[in-house]
Amino acid sequence: MKLNPFDTYFLWGAATSAHQIDGHNTNNDWWQWEQAGKTRSAESSGVACDHKNKFKEDLLLAKNLNLNSYRFSLEWSRLEPSPGCWDESEWQWLEQLLSECEANRLIPFVSIHHFTLPAWLSESGGVLATDFNFFYQRFVAQVLIRIGARVTYWCTFNEPVVLAVGGYLGHFMPPGETSWRKFIRVLQQLIISHSQAYKQIHEYKRVGPWAHLPMQVGIAHNMLAFEPGRFWHPLDQALTKVSDYIYNWYFLNSLISKSSSQNSYLDFIGINYYTRGILSWGYEQSPHWPQPPLPMSLKFARPGEIMSDLGWSFYPQGLKDILLKLKKFNTPIIITENGWAEKQDLVRSRFLIEHLQAVAWAIEQGVKIHGYFHWALLDNFEWGEGFMPRFGLYKVDYSSLERSKTAAAELYSRVAFSHACQNPPDAAVLKAFLENLTKR
Ligand code: BGC
Repeated sequence: MKLNPFDTYFLWGAATSAHQIDGHNTNNDWWQWEQAGKTRSAESSGVACDHKNKFKEDLLLAKNLNLNSYRFSLEWSRLEPSPGCWDESEWQWLEQLLSECEANRLIPFVSIHHFTLPAWLSESGGVLATDFNFFYQRFVAQVLIRIGARVTYWCTFNEPVVLAVGGYLGHFMPPGETSWRKFIRVLQQLIISHSQAYKQIHEYKRVGPWAHLPMQVGIAHNMLAFEPGRFWHPLDQALTKVSDYIYNWYFLNSLISKSSSQNSYLDFIGINYYTRGILSWGYEQSPHWPQPPLPMSLKFARPGEIMSDLGWSFYPQGLKDILLKLKKFNTPIIITENGWAEKQDLVRSRFLIEHLQAVAWAIEQGVKIHGYFHWALLDNFEWGEGFMPRFGLYKVDYSSLERSKTAAAELYSRVAFSHACQNPPDAAVLKAFLENLTKR
């Protein structure tokens, strides 16, 4: 009988993505978006954190937090710089990254796609290109040949719904269009591509030390705790209901059959949770979504609340509510991202503790949670927002590229140290431990 990895580990991790930290990514659609001046102050990712050269140092930082897992993404444009041509030096770099994970006892959690597309693919239509699925499956096949034996956890797409909203409704990601028709086609395409990749990964026969562990395939899905701006307003209520369905549930419902587990295309549901979404009907300008497709405004906080540097509310209750709702799927959950953007580092520790308390509470309610990844291991290039938002457990000085530890990193290392070996973490013990940490 094959061991279920979920019986073996609770994943304590930190997450990153290639374009946000590696640097030197000049052959993808995001680079083009940056060159077109579409980010805050026209900032470009440039060398970012230079993780491309500093990956050994960075994985040591993760290990020093007592983590047992590291989530990172593949940069497709570097591995396949033109259609069907594989760059051997880049595959070797990836293998070295995996070796560093292994040397530091970090279970690799690999996102195959995290927002960026090779320039050659975006130029021929991106996700809507007639051959998108062919290219994506061929890339997945190559990934399996090269590193399939060494990876157990796969995320086919990071935030597919955000990719569709940002690129086809919201103007905050390439290609920056507004078309409901294209938005729906992108979602459908990503559902098809995920499902096929799911099958492909499961059909791959592994050899080597990890062969006894079955592959775990999922997505990382962003969820917002939606609520009406004016609780009494019927249009705000309707907008909230519809947005909640389209943004939070449609994609998951499509991949998980509620009646039988046989039709499920998710071995785990990865949840990226940050904050709440407050929706109001009417033309009120919102910095988070300046060009919505409908007369509506989306805000991430109410006046007077504790907010991050991005204006996102401190709202752990939203994580509790979402986790409880996810229980109906009876599918393991991994928190694949959760974090706080803050230069001063005053609130991050409290954010971490209170969100872990929410996780412990949900475990107590019977929600099957198998891991927590903090976003992010390092400060990084935050897409359209440039380098201003500081999400890192380690700060990065972008002139010297030096990394330094935050107070939250110190706390997190203590949590991971005391709970990494517990399976599953005992919710009561975890809660008491977190309580004690905050008393000191
Ligand atoms: C994305 C990350 C991003 C983070 C903070 C998620 O939407 O997956 O790439 O940096 O949120 O905004």
